[in-house]
Order: sequence, then structure tokens, then C-alpha cells
Amino acid sequence: MKVAVAGTGYVGLVTGVCLAENGNEVTCVDIDENKIARMEQGISPIYEPGLEELMHKNKERLHYTTDYQSAYEDADVIFIGVGTPEKKDGSANLTYVYRVVEQIAETVRKDCVVVVKSTVPIGTNDKVENLLKNNLKHPVNISVASNPEFLAQGTAIRDTLHASRIVLGVEDKLAEDTLRTVYAGFKDVPLLITNRKSAEMIKYASNDFLALKISYINEIANLCEIVGANIDDVAKGMGYDARIGDRFLHAGIGYGGSCFPKDTKALNWLASYNDAELKTIKAAIEINEQQKLKLLKKSRKYYPDFTGLTVAVLGLTFKPGTDDLREAPSLVNIPIILEDNAKVKAWDPVGQENFRRKFPDDITYCDSIAETLKDADICFIFTEWPEVRALTPEDFLTSMKKPIVLDGRNCLDYESFHSSDVIYESIGR
Ligand code: UDX
Repeated sequence: MKVAVAGTGYVGLVTGVCLAENGNEVTCVDIDENKIARMEQGISPIYEPGLEELMHKNKERLHYTTDYQSAYEDADVIFIGVGTPEKKDGSANLTYVYRVVEQIAETVRKDCVVVVKSTVPIGTNDKVENLLKNNLKHPVNISVASNPEFLAQGTAIRDTLHASRIVLGVEDKLAEDTLRTVYAGFKDVPLLITNRKSAEMIKYASNDFLALKISYINEIANLCEIVGANIDDVAKGMGYDARIGDRFLHAGIGYGGSCFPKDTKALNWLASYNDAELKTIKAAIEINEQQKLKLLKKSRKYYPDFTGLTVAVLGLTFKPGTDDLREAPSLVNIPIILEDNAKVKAWDPVGQENFRRKFPDDITYCDSIAETLKDADICFIFTEWPEVRALTPEDFLTSMKKPIVLDGRNCLDYESFHSSDVIYESIGR
């Protein structure tokens, strides 16, 4: 099939590359000429393990362009994979989606299926269809389908090629048949065919449930601290029950990233807009906001303020395996520490450059963990990178001025740290 994909971020580019891997002829469209030029040289604009290898392997079937007309005019399928960032009121900003829709309406010259992959509020696919039909320049038949994406950053290729499910929200046969053909190569992946609104809801309900699961375990972890239980064992004990499952029960300083924070707020907004209330989701959002500051609260009993102290920060990104800083706990905590007049030294294996763009002057960026810890009065762990997980009490004891370690990801071995001379605190243990 001849496929065009609008947007070359995590969703768009990964979709395009994986569809090419499965035999489709794919053109990726972006407005950023720089990005396109780099992708033509085989360089991925995002850090995602395995992506560049697949770009290289499928280079005959993969094309990149800023010229949307040439990509859309004779495509069988056009995927929309542009961002839907959060607006100030929590609702989803659909400007980029609608801009692509207008470009499609202006340029398509043959019957095709337009597929919304971006995460969009329930009912958006209907609006996309109306907008397309009212603005078409040429007499063609267009079907609109919803096909939400469930990939996680850092495992995006695996999550797409070996997806847990492919959800197709369709209202007509053309859309269903075309998308079955596009996904024909994904043999072992369960396929759910439903209507468009249900598909749109599946995406939000899935992400919001996972966010809720994390906020739930964080709340239980906070209670574990008070009553003297250990969240690691509690989560393990819960996880044996297949109805609960053992994944996404890892307590810490809250979820970040481009999806959970945005999608919880967007569904909550949609519910309020329709005079409904999502009490569970509201609670998940509130708990997460408080959880992000949990380490800072713990630190106050050692230092009521950080004036003149050296603070070491290990990990800046919202999770390991990505250079993405969106909604990362580091972004909430570090400005407060800086306001306190501390000297901040930070290490992150891939997130440093992005962080430096936001905080160019105030932070000393270190090339190694040892350099970061040297002479520090306290250490905050915000991301569980493998290099951080591998640290032993000795690593802190030999380098830090005062070995106070606050582990926001429960990634260090509790027994060995607790029995060492390190002053060690984590979440719910
Ligand atoms: C998520 C979903 O997993 C994915 O299906 C969806 O399509 C997009 O949103 P992503 O944001 O890339 O993916 O990362 P994920 O691995 O889910 O982690 C999100 C956040 O939750 C991270 O900050 C992570 O640290 C946190 N988290 C995750 C926990 O705090 N505890 C857990 O048990 C799991």
C-alpha cells in the first residue's frame, strides 16, 4: 500500500518505519526541513533504540519530504501522527491535526483512507471527516478511521511491531479493508475492530488506567512509610494475582512523559465539559502532582534550605531509555533547589543536552556519576538509568561530603543501602 504519514515524532516516525518494515511504501511528511534532511541521511530526529537500524534496513521503501502535496495526492492511506499538546485548561490542542486535515483536503486526488493516530478527544474523528468533506478540492471518496497508538518511548519499535493489540475504529468497509491490508504483516497481533468513538476512548481509558495504577501504588507506598510496611513486597504480593498483574506497580516520584499527564487531564476536561465527573482520574492527577515533590519534602529534615550546599542530581529524563524531559520530576524539583541558592550538579546519559537548553547557566553538567557526586551534600535520584541502578553504597561514601541519598525510583538495593553508612531514603520502603 502507498502510505503517507504526517508528523515525524515518536508516533509518526515509528509508525512509518514499522509499516515500511511490513512491506508498505511509506512517505513521512514534516514541516521541519532540517529534520527531513537528517532523516534522508538516515539520522533519526528522536532517540529511540532500534529506530535508525530499521530506517536503514527499509530505506528503499521509506521517503521523507516537506512537500505534503506529493505525499498525499496519490496515497492509499494517510496517517495523522502529529502532536496534540495540552492547552492551559487541560484540553487537547488539535491545531496541528486540523492543519494536516486541511492540507489533505486540498491535495488528495484519489479515494483514500485518512487515519487518525494522534491521541484525540472522543468525537474528533467525526470532526475530521466533516472538515475533510467540506473542504475537498477534488471529487474523491474519503474514509476516516481511528487507529490509536499504544507505544511507550524507549520500546517504541517492539511495542509497534509486536503490539499488544491493533485497534481500528471504522465506520465503513473501505476503511476496514484498507487497514486490514496495511496491517497484514502484523500476523501475531490481536486486531480489534470497533467504531471510531470507542477506538478514541480505548486510548484514553488505557492510558488513564495505567496512570491511575501508578498513583494508586504511590499512595499505598506513602502509607507503607507511615505504618512500616515495604512497598516492594506489597507490590510483589499484589502482582501475583493475575487480575491485578505485576506491571505498573512500581512506586516512585510519579509519572511523567508525553502521554499520562496530558491524557489524564484531557479526559478529565472532556468529562467536566460534558457535566460528568471522573473522580478517580482527578485523584490520580492530584496524587501525581504531590508525589513529584516527595523527595524534596524528605530532604527538608536534613536541610531546611539548600543555601551554599552542593546538590547532586542523577537522572533528568522522565524515564530511562529516552532523552525526553516532558513532565519529568526533575523539571519541577530543580528550579526549587536552584531558588534555594544551591549549587546543582547533574548527570544524565542522554537528557543533558535537552536540559541544558532549558537551564544553560545555572547547573554544572557532569560527564560521570563520580564527578556529580564529588563533594555533594545530598543526592537526588530522579531517573533509574542502568548506571544508577548499578551504584553501591561505596560509590556514594567515597565521593560525597555528606552521604544523603534520596532515591525517587526505588532503584538501589534497599538492604545493602539501609545497612550501610549512607543515609538512604526511598519511596514506601
Ligand atoms: C505511556 C504508555 O505506556 C504507552 O502505552 C502510551 O502509548 C504512551 O504513554 P511512556 O510515556 O513512553 O508510555 O512511558 P511509560 O513507560 O509508560 O512510563 C510513563 C511514566 O510512568 C514514567 O515517568 C515512569 O517512570 C512512570 N512509571 C511507570 C512509574 O512511576 N511506575 C510504574 O510502575 C511504571
